[in-house]
Amino acid sequence: MATPPPARAGRLDVAVLGAGRVGPVLGAALRGAGHRVVGVHARSAAAAERVAALLPDVPLVTAEQTTRADLVLLAVPDDALARVVADLAAAGAWRAGQLVVHTSGRAGTSVLAPAAAAGALPLALHPAMTFTGTSLDLPRLASACFAVTAPPVLLPVAQALVHECGATPVVVAEEERPLYHAALAHGANHLVTLVAQAAEALRPALAGADGEVDGETVARVLRPLLQAALDNALASGDAALTGPVARGDAGTVAGHLAVLRERGGTGTAAVYAQAAEAALGRAAESGRLAPAAAAAVRAALGARRELGAPSGAGERSSG
Ligand SMILES: NC(=O)c1ccc[n+]([C@@H]2O[C@H](COP(=O)([O-])OP(=O)(O)OC[C@H]3O[C@@H](n4cnc5c(N)ncnc54)[C@H](OP(=O)(O)O)[C@@H]3O)[C@@H](O)[C@H]2O)c1
Repeated sequence: MATPPPARAGRLDVAVLGAGRVGPVLGAALRGAGHRVVGVHARSAAAAERVAALLPDVPLVTAEQTTRADLVLLAVPDDALARVVADLAAAGAWRAGQLVVHTSGRAGTSVLAPAAAAGALPLALHPAMTFTGTSLDLPRLASACFAVTAPPVLLPVAQALVHECGATPVVVAEEERPLYHAALAHGANHLVTLVAQAAEALRPALAGADGEVDGETVARVLRPLLQAALDNALASGDAALTGPVARGDAGTVAGHLAVLRERGGTGTAAVYAQAAEAALGRAAESGRLAPAAAAAVRAALGARRELGAPSGAGERSSG
């Protein structure tokens, strides 16, 4: 890692509490902006290794010692955050005027109330990106948005910190944080499951006589299709839908369900049916699909239910 840039006038002493995938990376980003990282609290050997890699000259400190900094970056798991803040408040560690920042998506600033009660200035900065916990994340910050939640008077400070990390701030109201986070999880996390299921179903279809196919071939078939679907959906929303549901091709939908039940892998037919129902509802509601065509697809999906197909995630491949 390169020598840290000299701290510039007006810059902050920063301490990081929690050295998982996010903490050391954001510490390094803030240091890159000229702030001085004065300590990191890392509990495990793996956490200490991440600090050594990203912030090699920065000392490991106790949780309480982090609160001596001008800016305390709390990067602990969502479920640990409230307890960490409360424990430090009980120890009388928070100080008036210091910035307390957390990186959880679900929580706004109310989780920092015990620190704010001592006069600390609460900010919630959630990077809408996936971290590896390595220096690879640093350039990726440039294309990331951070959800920023803060008392109005502190919003400019929160936005400036995000800009300093090289990212783009997007303001999210305190009461909208749960919806914001659920939306991201639904899109990003469930996309992973959809892609994994598609790849799993595709594998036997592409396998040669020896029953083998390499992952690269599966990815090469899927990538252009999935990337175009993602780009089109982000650009045009529901209008980007193609395929048998969009065409009202009920026979194909019924055929897909039958083969996925037999050979699609764990839970794939159930997820296909649910996603097809959602796509059908949205296409019919927007008037894109004629009522007769929508009814035919609905009947194909309904027939599957009447046949007693499992609706949970417990389906297994028999192929
Ligand atoms: N990972 C992402 O891609 C991502 C993206 C955006 C936002 N976030 C958010 O950023 C926060 C941190 O996520 P992460 O991925 O960095 O988590 P992580 O990789 O699980 O790391 C969390 C770190 O916090 C430490 N920790 C846990 N409980 C603690 C406690 N009570 N006191 C002190 N340290 C404690 C853990 O210590 P040990 O090393 O001992 O386990 C670990 O080093 C979360 O709110 C997460 O939702 C994550």
